[in-house]
Formats: sequence, structure tokens, C-alpha cells
Amino acid sequence: MTTPHPHQPHRIGRRLFLGGTGAAVGAGLFAAGSVPAGRPAAADPAGAAAPTPRWRPLIHFTPERNWINDPNGLVHLDGEFHQFFQYNPGGSDHADMHWGHSVSTDLVHWEELPVALEPDELGEVYSGGAVVDHHDDSGFFDGGSGLIAFYTSAGDEQVQSLAYSDDNGRSWTMYEGNPVIGNPGIEDFRDPKVVWHAGSEAWVLMLAADDRILFYRSSDLREWEEVSGFGPGHGAHGGVWECPELFELPVDGDDRNTRWVLVVSINPGGPAGGSAAQYFVGDFDGWEFTPHDPPEQTLWADGGSDFYAVQSWSDVPAEDGRRIWTAWMSNWDYAEDVPTDPWRGAMTLPREVGLTETADGIRLTQMPVAEVESARTGNEHWEGELAEGGDGPAFTGTSLDVELEADPGTASVVGLEVLAGEGCRTLVGVDLEAGELFVDRSEHGSVEVTEQFRARHTMPLEHGDGPVRLRVVVDRSTVEAFGGRGQAVITDLVLPDADADVLRPYAEGGTAHVSSLDVHHLE
Ligand code: FRU
Repeated sequence: MTTPHPHQPHRIGRRLFLGGTGAAVGAGLFAAGSVPAGRPAAADPAGAAAPTPRWRPLIHFTPERNWINDPNGLVHLDGEFHQFFQYNPGGSDHADMHWGHSVSTDLVHWEELPVALEPDELGEVYSGGAVVDHHDDSGFFDGGSGLIAFYTSAGDEQVQSLAYSDDNGRSWTMYEGNPVIGNPGIEDFRDPKVVWHAGSEAWVLMLAADDRILFYRSSDLREWEEVSGFGPGHGAHGGVWECPELFELPVDGDDRNTRWVLVVSINPGGPAGGSAAQYFVGDFDGWEFTPHDPPEQTLWADGGSDFYAVQSWSDVPAEDGRRIWTAWMSNWDYAEDVPTDPWRGAMTLPREVGLTETADGIRLTQMPVAEVESARTGNEHWEGELAEGGDGPAFTGTSLDVELEADPGTASVVGLEVLAGEGCRTLVGVDLEAGELFVDRSEHGSVEVTEQFRARHTMPLEHGDGPVRLRVVVDRSTVEAFGGRGQAVITDLVLPDADADVLRPYAEGGTAHVSSLDVHHLE
């Protein structure tokens, strides 16, 4: 395969706060509104100067223009899902962080609204969460209710601040009492997420502090008391901990059997290199998180390279009852080299999260929210034999939602070639011998991002005796693969060539019988 863009810009002055072993080198040390010295004004890797509409996903959120990273302040209010996000209104690199804002009523179609939060004298506006203050516990809403956003003010040091809105997030007031949590002398001290803990009737705030998550409690959302920490000795520590998230879920849908899930993003140290999200299953009593798995156990939410800073929506109505989350679809290892233009960064599909009992313990499941089906237009159906080396039927499309069910027969791999053209393709499948789901993007397209980008990513997936089940959503430059009932998930960006629009099922090692292949076109 040819590599028309071998030149990678020399990388200078990238992120300032890669914590690694804890020896972080200054977090957000540049003043609000400024671009850090040494950072190329427009670090244009291959082709970034030319618009790349063919890579803009149809049903995934991307900003109209400029840089985004983490989803922030995900909250539901009055029928609207709010999705704020880390946003640089002035360019396509990570600098001058604001909270951008988008809303949706169906989690599929997003309307981008004006920027919500701007840097102030405390610094840039880094990641955080939002809640509905239904009973005016904060006193900001004159006995009514409103939205409160918690975020990190990243200036000379990282401190936690809040802002409130009484008009459904259209305008915000930064609290004059900010910061609400000062910096205790920890460089990487950020990403507050707030939840209401009904069991102990308190607001709980958690944040990432270097190699741990700290928990705080409050009754008025303004004054916070630190109550515990969790982290050292548990799970993966290949990088700094960021963006905590916490929720309770029923196991296999049984409301009398619930567990708490603590999710922690980590960068670097992920299973596919660079950024990733790990999780812990256990108990939370309002003060302390107690994991149920052994401390050395690391559980990854996603085996791919592009699933980071995942956050779930707060205040989804009880009658809906779902836990829904989304992640930034990129990786700090190369996010600033992804040559899309005039935007850089996308969110994953919103996914419904569940817990299921497995032989190894209680584990997460994820599937795209049902609303994604409303974006399906036409459906093509096929069933038949897939022989090794034989040609499965070819389908055409670059935004497709695909469901495959097959009896693997004698085959060792059952999969799909997606976004395939003359000189490129991405492979998605189940390897029955290895017991894993995989996405192989080594030949995704001729554009070079970084060397690491060309790789095969896997996640364990025991398939047992039943049929192989695979759901794959391909959306121009995104691939999300869900194995089985969503116990294994891989999220990967790809940058296919202009002619790459073929999808084809295939088998390796023997003959498989496809009982149903549904290729839904998305619009
Ligand atoms: C995660 C993160 C957060 C931080 C934000 C800055 O990707 O590094 O820890 O608040 O991005 O944009």
C-alpha cells in the first residue's frame, strides 16, 4: 500500500499534563485564552488544510468546526439531552478549552448551540459533569430548579468550579464563590462528576487526583467535604487517572441485584496503546467505593483505540430507566494528528450500558441506544454459506448499521470487511479460536496518522455454543463493533480512501453458515 503522506509534523509542546507515573509536568499552565508557546498554530498533518467531508460521520456528533475532546456535563432536562464538550473555538488543536454545547431529543440528531462556558480568571474550562438541582438545594434557583455544571478551572493550578443555568443551559453564570474545591497540592486534580446518592441522601462529587479518585459529599452542592479515596493498588496505572464516572446498575436486569460501577479513564496505558477507559464493579455506600474483583484485575470498557473520557447522562427520567453513555472517539496518542477538516474530534454513538453475570464475574455490556435504529433507511438481507477464501456478497455504503448472526461451522473467524476499496479495508470479526472480538485497521486507508494507528485491536469474547453475533456500525470514519450481547466492544477511527465503500462478510479456516446478515443504510 502506498503512503502518500509520509511526512509527520514534528510534535512540539503537546499536552502539558501527561501525568504518567505521577511526575506530571504542569497542568494547564498556560493562561486562559492563550495558545501554549511552541505549539504550531495550525499543526496541519497530511491533508488537514483541505476539507474532508467524506470522513464526517452522519450519525455521530462532530462539531461544525474546530477541536473537541471529552464529552462534558451530560444531563437530561425537559426532554432534551445536553451534550457539552471540551472545545477550542479558535482552532483544531487542544488549546484554550471552553465547553461547547449541543442538544438532541433522540440522541442521534444533534444541534450545536453557542459555546456554554468560557475561560475566566481561574483558567480554562476543563472537563466535568452536570446535574439537575431539582429542589434548589444550591439556592441558586429561587426555590425552582436548574442546571449546575461542575468543571475544572485549569489555570496556574487545577481547582474545581461550578456554573449554573436557569434557562435549560442556554446561558450560564459562573459562581462567584469559585473555586468550590481548592487545590491540595496535587498537579493532576480534575474532572469533577457529581451524582445524587439516594441511599445516603447526599450529593457526591468525585474527581481524579493523580493515581486515585477522591470522593466528596455535600448537601448544598457548594460546600464539599472529602470523605475517601480509591485507586492505588487497583486496576491499571500505566498513566494518569482522569474523568471518573459512577453509577448503579441492575445485574441482568434484576433490580434487586445491583452493583455500583466506577469508571476511570487512563492515559496512557490502555490495551490498544494510549488512552482508554477502565472500570471497577463493586459497592458504593455514599462515602466509599469497595471493589468486588481482586485488586490486580483490570477491566476495560472498550478494547479499541478510540474510546476515552466516557461519561453517562445524568437525570435520565426514571420511566426511561436507561444508563446511557458516550465517549470521545479519539486517543491522546494521535488526536492532534487526525487529518479531518474543518473539525477534529467526534463522539461515539450513545450506548446503553448494562451489567451481566459471567463465569469471570460481573461485567459491563454496551449496545447502541435503540434510537440509532431510527436513522436506518433501507435494509438489505442475506443468508447463506461463507466458505474460506470464497466471495461473500458485496454491499455498498459508507454509513451502515450491520447485524450478523452465523453458525461458525468449521470456520475459525467470521467477520466483515468494511470500508473497503482498491487499496484499503478494515476487518471486523470474531476469532473463535482466540476467543476474541477484533478490529483490524492496519490497512484502513493510505493516509498516515501515526505508526501505532495501523493496528489490530482485540477484546476477549467467549462465544460458547450459540451462534456468532456481531453488530457493527460504520459511519464514514468510525467503526464500532459489538460482540455477542455487547460484552466485547471495540471503537476505532479509520480514514478510508475515497473509493472505500464496500462491505462484505467473510470466513477463515472453514465454512460458516450465515443465518442472517442485515445491512441497514444510515442517514
Ligand atoms: C481527558 C482530559 C481531562 C481534562 C481535559 C482537558 O481527555 O485530559 O482530564 O479535563 O481532557 O481538555
